[in-house]
Amino acid sequence: MKRIAVLTSGGDAPGMNAAVRAAVRRAVYSGLEIFGVYHGYTGLINGDIKEMTLGSVGDIIHRGGTVLYTARSEEFRTEEGQQKAIAQLQKYGIDGLIVVGGDGSFRGAQKLSEKGFKTIGVPGTIDNDIPCTDYTIGFDTALNTIVESIDKIRDTATSHERTYIIEVMGRDAGDLALYAGLAAGAESIIIPEADQEMDDIVDRLHAGQRRGKKHSIIIVAEGVGSASKYAEVIKERTGWETRVTVLGHVQRGGSPTAFDRMLASRMGAAAVDLLIEGKTDRMVGIQNNKIVDVDFDEALAQKHQLDLSVYQLARTLSI
Ligand code: F6P
Repeated sequence: MKRIAVLTSGGDAPGMNAAVRAAVRRAVYSGLEIFGVYHGYTGLINGDIKEMTLGSVGDIIHRGGTVLYTARSEEFRTEEGQQKAIAQLQKYGIDGLIVVGGDGSFRGAQKLSEKGFKTIGVPGTIDNDIPCTDYTIGFDTALNTIVESIDKIRDTATSHERTYIIEVMGRDAGDLALYAGLAAGAESIIIPEADQEMDDIVDRLHAGQRRGKKHSIIIVAEGVGSASKYAEVIKERTGWETRVTVLGHVQRGGSPTAFDRMLASRMGAAAVDLLIEGKTDRMVGIQNNKIVDVDFDEALAQKHQLDLSVYQLARTLSI
């Protein structure tokens, strides 16, 4: 292994830059040449590839987004697109690729591995929906952004004695909603992984009112549907004034937290080490604060498991 490359793919996540920096610096430290692929798999197909140096990743550890840009490439899903990508990698004499992204990006990396090209995945997504890793890069920053936003909404919710229904990202996973709901003291958290009856949500609101609560916060994971739908039913059933906030893409931006920078630095460096060891078709993860690596097949065959004990805890603390 002499020459490797790194790309970021799918939804950007805070900490992706720290992962790219770690990969570049670890590669140079280990005597490898490293190239950056711009615009994800689209750039790989088009040969948007440039050599990176220690200096090209200076001053990025604290920046959100990704300096390599990102994309969701339809063409790369096709056999023809994958062949074009491999031809580009061969043209540049690249023997190994690090892909920082989510499960869709890993499926792409797996295709390259199947064709004999060495690839290692680094989980970067705010959704925390990748199996075999306790955390993904970007989750902690997005979580903190959500909690800060809820704290602000709480100020106005209290002042106006209103019920707020706040929709958060996460795609099909409820991790962001659950952790944010617990950390911000929400009355109810509605996530795809747990059934929550409307009767129960309304009962909890009334119970709060009986003991003198003047406002309520309900968190809805985007994976269960829109917050407006819940707001309408709650208004109908309680007669209370409700407001809806969809936090949207603000959740994806911002300077990564120290946790995400640490995680990204450890994972980015580990990915380079795996390529040097000749490993391929694997994903880096973190389990019990130890960096691990698992087969893409193993990781992608599983369904992401949310810790339902946290959900139960949130329910008992918001009675
Ligand atoms: O996967 C990250 C994520 O932000 C999800 O939480 C969300 O559902 C999706 O990407 C939004 O994608 P886009 O930026 O393409 O609208």
